[in-house]
Amino acid sequence: MSAKRHITAVLGFAAVGALALGLTGCSGGAADADAGADGGSGELINVGFVAVGPEGGWRQANEQNIKDTFTEEAGYELSYAPAANLDQKSQIDSFTAFVDEGVDVILLSATEATGWEDSLKLAQEAEIPVILLDRGIEPDDDSLYVTRIAPDNVEVAKEVGAWAASAFPDGGNYVVLEGPAGVGVVNERNKGFEEGLGGAQLTKVDAQTANWSTEEGKSVLETMLKANGNDIQFVFAQNDEMGLGAAQAAEEAGLVVGEDIKIATIDGTKNAIQALADGKLSYVHEYNPLFGETALEVVQKALDGEDVEPYIIVPSEAFDSADAAKAVLADRKY
Ligand code: AHR
Repeated sequence: MSAKRHITAVLGFAAVGALALGLTGCSGGAADADAGADGGSGELINVGFVAVGPEGGWRQANEQNIKDTFTEEAGYELSYAPAANLDQKSQIDSFTAFVDEGVDVILLSATEATGWEDSLKLAQEAEIPVILLDRGIEPDDDSLYVTRIAPDNVEVAKEVGAWAASAFPDGGNYVVLEGPAGVGVVNERNKGFEEGLGGAQLTKVDAQTANWSTEEGKSVLETMLKANGNDIQFVFAQNDEMGLGAAQAAEEAGLVVGEDIKIATIDGTKNAIQALADGKLSYVHEYNPLFGETALEVVQKALDGEDVEPYIIVPSEAFDSADAAKAVLADRKY
């Protein structure tokens, strides 16, 4: 992803839906706010949401938050179009249908990073603004969309790498459980993790996809442990579900999780925070999915013809101990 001037969003966890944004060209004073999204016309704003659909806890939380935000009460008619079995063609078909229908704005969470140029140009010709949620596109051409709203995968993964380097000062063997090939965040997380490791003496002995799933995370690590005679000290799981599966595999292989082998994950779903509190995971970096209010602000700015920076970062916290997990567990919102 090209270097971009990022907007840092200010997020008060207690007011997770009330994100204050440094959007350029801000206007829309009290009058607009009182008028609501439709400017007082009474007509609903039609939003086409090209979504991923069932994929795991993070996705469920993210998509539900979008649905809970773009309500009729807020002045929106949200059409939800999840992919059929994570299939990109079904997403492209839904995207095209939204353009043909003449929706006012399209939200896109892409199952694949590549192959979106034609669709995005179609929306551009129809003067329909497109906002990327979570997932980026490759090659990244920010002239084809209004903005991307997501936590910063590179920075999040860099913090995981830096933690791993500090947790293993004398080195060790590690493996990576990746998301599906072709998904943009996988490449961003690998990049950030390697940067965060820096000069650490950790040796990568394997990396494979486990397709975001607990079952595959378990089976893939089982195979890796057998192939390496259990001589793996660290697992970087690119999402919680794969890390939780890895913990099961490690225990069944006779390893003491948290001592013989440490597992770090990204997402911060409640199950992972609980596992961190229980000592089954050693580090969990949140990838905050609750950015519906931010998306709504951006939709309004885009429809008002105001400038929006090409990448809006949703801040996310890291949790590096059982005590840190126990301190937040009761308040977790997903
Ligand atoms: O794109 C975000 C990733 O997709 C999450 O980390 C993972 O859990 C989800 O399936």
